Amino acid sequence: MTDTRYWAVIPAAGVGKRMRADRPKQYLSLHGKTVLEHSIARFDSHPAIAGIVVAVSEDDGYWPDLAIRTRKPLHVAPGGKERSDSVINALAVLARHATEDDWVLVHDAARPCLRPSDIDRLIERLSADAVGGILATPVRDTMKRQDDAGRIQRTEEREGLWHALTPQMFPLGALRAALQRAAEEGAVITDEASALEYVGQSPLLVEGRGDNIKITRPEDLALAEFFLRQEAAEPNQEQA
Ligand code: CTP
Ligand code: MG
Repeated sequence: MTDTRYWAVIPAAGVGKRMRADRPKQYLSLHGKTVLEHSIARFDSHPAIAGIVVAVSEDDGYWPDLAIRTRKPLHVAPGGKERSDSVINALAVLARHATEDDWVLVHDAARPCLRPSDIDRLIERLSADAVGGILATPVRDTMKRQDDAGRIQRTEEREGLWHALTPQMFPLGALRAALQRAAEEGAVITDEASALEYVGQSPLLVEGRGDNIKITRPEDLALAEFFLRQEAAEPNQEQA
């Protein structure tokens, strides 16, 4: 097990429609650098990570301007139509540098507040696991199922419901095979776990921090700024 490596894959080829900004949200400025630079730095500064693959859109004019420098190998893959296509492309690039048994941590570019402790926990809980798993948080609001008229049909049992976050961690070979098969069979895949579920596996839920938010709507940027400032103010924080 000593030679097992861990790689980060960061899909960053979305357009950020819900954000309604003048550029894709991964290029918005946040606490001194772009959202994407924060997300990359989270893995570049984590000692367990061997290297990083970022998927960026081929007509992305912002990426070249960033001129990102990292300590670890950083590879670029072309983005795809859906998030899962971007991940498939990134895994193809990663396969030139990694083995089938290496672990991949797939992480949304739009989650810049990921803490090192969450990466630690994920690796600790999953390294000996046969399937892999994801960071998640338990649902805390009461959940409603709507009817056709937009009225409440019933209350869903909240017990046992989780929000799926990232990173999502799986062996490279198993993840690639699952995504490939789901794509070939036209299955709708929203995250890596759903590809593994599609091929009959049950990924593990690993409880993560609630401040690992995905920047989705305009108000989320201020919230992310607040979380990053809080982290910077904590004693003994190694700066990413
Ligand atoms: N993503 C990607 N390739 C796509 C679509 C999304 O790499 N074809 C990435 C985004 O850049 C983001 C992550 O997947 O980091 C999560 O997706 P989401 O939050 O939905 O981002 P967008 O698709 O950009 O936003 P929206 O859905 O509002 O357009
Ligand atoms: Mg999207």
